[in-house]
Amino acid sequence: MKTALKTSNPVRLATDCLVIAVGAKSKLSEEANEIDKASGKRLSSILSNGDFDGSLGSTLLLHGLTGIKAKRVLLVGCGELTKLSLKEAKKLLAGVAKALLASQAKDAHLALASLELAAADHYWLAERIAQEFVEASYSYSTTKSSKAKQTSLKSVSLAAPKGTSKAKIDAAYARGIATGRGINRARELGNLPGNICTPTYLAKQAVDLAKGKRNLSVKVLSEKQMARLGMGSLLSVSAGSSQEAQLIVMEYKGAKVKPKANRPAPHMLVGKGITFDTGGISLKGGLAMDEMKFDMCGAASVIGTMAAVVEMALPIDVVAIIAAAENMPSGKATKPGDVVTSMSGLTIEILNTDAEGRLVLCDALTYGERYKPASVIDVATLTGAAVATFGSHVSALLSNDDALAAELTDCGNLSLDQVWQLPLHDEYQHLLDSNFADIANIGGPRAGTITAACFLSRFTKKFKWAHLDIAGSAWNSGAAKGATGRPVSLLLEYLRRKAA
Ligand code: BES
Ligand code: MN
Ligand code: ZN
Repeated sequence: MKTALKTSNPVRLATDCLVIAVGAKSKLSEEANEIDKASGKRLSSILSNGDFDGSLGSTLLLHGLTGIKAKRVLLVGCGELTKLSLKEAKKLLAGVAKALLASQAKDAHLALASLELAAADHYWLAERIAQEFVEASYSYSTTKSSKAKQTSLKSVSLAAPKGTSKAKIDAAYARGIATGRGINRARELGNLPGNICTPTYLAKQAVDLAKGKRNLSVKVLSEKQMARLGMGSLLSVSAGSSQEAQLIVMEYKGAKVKPKANRPAPHMLVGKGITFDTGGISLKGGLAMDEMKFDMCGAASVIGTMAAVVEMALPIDVVAIIAAAENMPSGKATKPGDVVTSMSGLTIEILNTDAEGRLVLCDALTYGERYKPASVIDVATLTGAAVATFGSHVSALLSNDDALAAELTDCGNLSLDQVWQLPLHDEYQHLLDSNFADIANIGGPRAGTITAACFLSRFTKKFKWAHLDIAGSAWNSGAAKGATGRPVSLLLEYLRRKAA
């Protein structure tokens, strides 16, 4: 999809579809007013019939307006027409994207220069437009016989207030497109069934992403290599599966360094990639177990983010580590009560084989120490307790560094991919005490999201670390079942700030 900045008068703009804002009670925006005048008050008379109430994000497609150059006009409701919050702006743009993609228009112009945002500028708006369009153009069809039909829309232009920089708008569009594509990549990986998206499949996706890219390299560690490194915890999870676990390491070197100068420390992302979680010997109940194919959404979001980092050519170094495995029961599976030794040397009593995410993550985190990272963020569909606490709107955030937590919270607010911090207080740590090992892999029935993070905190003492539990936000259940691609936009906002 192409995008461009156009500043000419909406009345004289030749386009397949002109998008203009109309508020509640038929209150016209500046641009809508111009169209109304040029078309001999047709807009006012259409609105007076009451078919369109101007509620936020609602749309109405109009044909046959005379006196203007545009073929169609799409009205979009913007509520009270006052300063829009970021969430309101997103809702409006999502409505526009949905209506335009459903139409036959090949190009569209968004005459929204007069739109006022409470907490952002038109660069944010441009980025968000691009992201919403790319996101709205995704639908899952890979394992269906009938493929999704291509949309007609090829380009979208935007009007912006006087003084807006064309170069900065272009850069914002490019960021939005890369973000949308990263999100869609994560959604697709999440949506693929567990019999296709195996640990080996995930590894191949990462390897393919690096093909032909000078600044991205990928290595994949086999079970044999992991055994040599002492990753007894990670390997205990894949023990029951015929699918081999894979430790996928992606290294992006984007930092601009002078010859002979040291490279800056990389930022690190770590993803939980359980391609199917049956619970293992601590087998889950059957209800909605199919949704445990989404248990690799942390890994998917890390791959999607890396793809976007490469596309944006961010001038920083980023290392991504994905712990990919399948959690299955079998004669070879790990049993409750088994004790394993992690790569860090800490022994772990596995009291519940369904608490497998932390078991793969801890060895991935220890492996990450060798990069001496400037910050580490792990992303995981880790606990049902996070779903119980937050539902689907925010991801849980826990961190050993308050500044990092505050920064991520801020990034979440701007990218509308929100997080909420939970306490990682020392008082919770004793819940992981074990009679038979250094640490147990579960902390009992209470404070499940916190005790899971406490477990991980034992392996993150050497760096600034934040943990995102995306169990509630990574996918939708019910009729709209499918991966959301979160928290790709949050991670990209964070990495972008590191690059600034
Ligand atoms: N992948 C699940 C967490 C999960 C459950 C995410 C439901 C989304 C929806 C994880 O591996 C798990 O099973 N966690 C257990 C931990 C418990 C045994 C301490 C849980 O939350 O029940
Ligand atoms: Mn589990
Ligand atoms: Zn799991």
